[in-house]
Amino acid sequence: MTEPAPQPPPSGNPSEFDRYSAGYNAGMEVGLKRLAGASAALFLEQKLEILLDELRRAGRLRTDPSFRYLDFGCGAGDFLSLVARRGLQWSCEGCDVSRGMLQEARKRWPRDLQSIPLWPIEPNRFPAARFDLISAVCVFHHIPPDQWIESLRRLKDALVPGGWLAVFEHNPWNPATNYVVRRTEIDRNAVLLSPAVARDRLAAAGFGKPRTRFFLFAPPRFKFLWPAEKLLARVPLGGQYVLFAQKDSG
Ligand SMILES: C[S@@+](CC[C@H](N)C(=O)[O-])C[C@H]1O[C@@H](n2cnc3c(N)ncnc32)[C@H](O)[C@@H]1O
Repeated sequence: MTEPAPQPPPSGNPSEFDRYSAGYNAGMEVGLKRLAGASAALFLEQKLEILLDELRRAGRLRTDPSFRYLDFGCGAGDFLSLVARRGLQWSCEGCDVSRGMLQEARKRWPRDLQSIPLWPIEPNRFPAARFDLISAVCVFHHIPPDQWIESLRRLKDALVPGGWLAVFEHNPWNPATNYVVRRTEIDRNAVLLSPAVARDRLAAAGFGKPRTRFFLFAPPRFKFLWPAEKLLARVPLGGQYVLFAQKDSG
């Protein structure tokens, strides 16, 4: 596949998130979520800290442009922009099925982020063996369950041998998460994956056994508690979890 060009995505078939893209706010209209998070960015900041911590732990935290990173289902680019601003020097890209969301990212990003390639996902067309790390932040519960394994296989194929996939998801075993999801407009068609189901689908897609880490035990506005949450990482009751899975180094 040729290198995606850093330009606004063309218009094409509509997808579910096109209708939420203008002014996308990640469901912050729900009172409990606002109370917990103060801002949508804070939820994403915590995820980035966890991602970097997991890479460090695996001895895979690099900070150079030869490290290629894809944010799958990047939406309005909020997580991707945090990564790009972190001073890691990674070569970043984002992709999404919603052209509206990609256009929203272009609209809200300042000039220094405009060179980051954003590309719409096309059926039967995805890069192969290109990325050292792929993240999927709250994406899989928006993908129909019968497509989970196929989507994970695609991501595995897009990783270089030994590359990592980080899947961040809502934890359906947490009552507060269920409460918020039931009241969030963008989640009206969401199907939450339990960690057990997600692990099973990763195995079916050919990934090695993932490391599971639970987080969001306390509202993210209490930032001083983030390090303490690490002690609870194996307690399956956090509001969200991340599965950190590696492609065979072949
Ligand atoms: C809740 S938003 C999360 C956006 C972003 N990851 C974030 O955390 O801000 C879910 C995103 O997943 C995208 N999505 C839904 N189905 C997808 C699929 N099959 N492949 C890739 N992205 C998809 C949606 O278009 C939307 O942008």
